[in-house]
Amino acid sequence: MILVTGATGNIGGELVTALSESGTQVRALVRDPAKATLPAGVTAVTGDLNRPETFADALDGVHAVFLLPGYDNQADLLDRAKKAGVQRIVLLSSAAAGLRDLDNAVSRYMTLSEQAVRESELAWTFLRPRSFMSNALRWLPQLAVGDTVRVQFPDVRVGAIDPADIAAVAALALTGDDLDGRVLELTGPQALLPADQIAVLAAVLDRQLVAQGLTTEETEAELTATMPQHYVDAFLSFFADGTLDEATLYPTVRDLTGRAPRSFEQWAHTHAADFAQ
Ligand SMILES: NC(=O)c1ccc[n+]([C@@H]2O[C@H](COP(=O)([O-])OP(=O)(O)OC[C@H]3O[C@@H](n4cnc5c(N)ncnc54)[C@H](OP(=O)(O)O)[C@@H]3O)[C@@H](O)[C@H]2O)c1
Repeated sequence: MILVTGATGNIGGELVTALSESGTQVRALVRDPAKATLPAGVTAVTGDLNRPETFADALDGVHAVFLLPGYDNQADLLDRAKKAGVQRIVLLSSAAAGLRDLDNAVSRYMTLSEQAVRESELAWTFLRPRSFMSNALRWLPQLAVGDTVRVQFPDVRVGAIDPADIAAVAALALTGDDLDGRVLELTGPQALLPADQIAVLAAVLDRQLVAQGLTTEETEAELTATMPQHYVDAFLSFFADGTLDEATLYPTVRDLTGRAPRSFEQWAHTHAADFAQ
């Protein structure tokens, strides 16, 4: 049995679908079963990542866990997992873990999560995806009211990855031991500017979309409206100061899955209905 945390999220949602379609027994951790929409055949179990004591039922009979990073008491959760018979952790980390910068709030929680998993002495695989293609959904409110899209960090190229590709690699890591001990740098096939993504969306949605680049000050103001200051500082450090390289592309998805990583155009076609709402 595989336990997937974040099962209602971008990556976990793709992962429970992929595992259940391949006939793998999968259990989805959710906080509120009444609100969770899961594929047929996937069992939901309730638990809160910040409260490891809520995981007793979730861990029963589980041999591998797909784990989100950055929650409280992770060492305690890993200890409980080990005692329950779990053998393998596949951790959703990010490129920011590679910086090992404990003064940067995002790099810090990724780094400390990887460290806790290493120290658990369970078998592990770390997934370090670049920005998710699904981040484009943050433009939905703007697309609902017009054709001009204000984009943050307009000069920063990112090798964004389709959550489905992260899930495909996670499924491989969870279902065999070939990827134990591997740190996997995961990217899509192209390093695109935000304006390039908007141009792809324009073509897929058949709209005359225009990207309007925000200054760093405007970006900071937008970020400040949606997240705590330490995360604002972290993202400004990554993308305004350039401490994080998300443009370099890696062949990992192709090497492991045997097929090319999905393009932003493919992602946009798959999710076109989300943009039509
Ligand atoms: N976006 C990016 O570009 C990017 C890049 C690299 C890494 N990451 C990392 O990816 C992670 C987010 O993954 P995602 O996009 O797949 O998730 P997501 O779509 O943001 O959804 C969050 C998921 O986490 C669950 N969750 C939240 N708090 C929880 C808690 N206390 N206990 C149990 N479950 C909880 C939510 O479940 P409920 O249904 O209960 O709300 C939901 O399934 C973050 O750690 C982020 O740092 C993101």
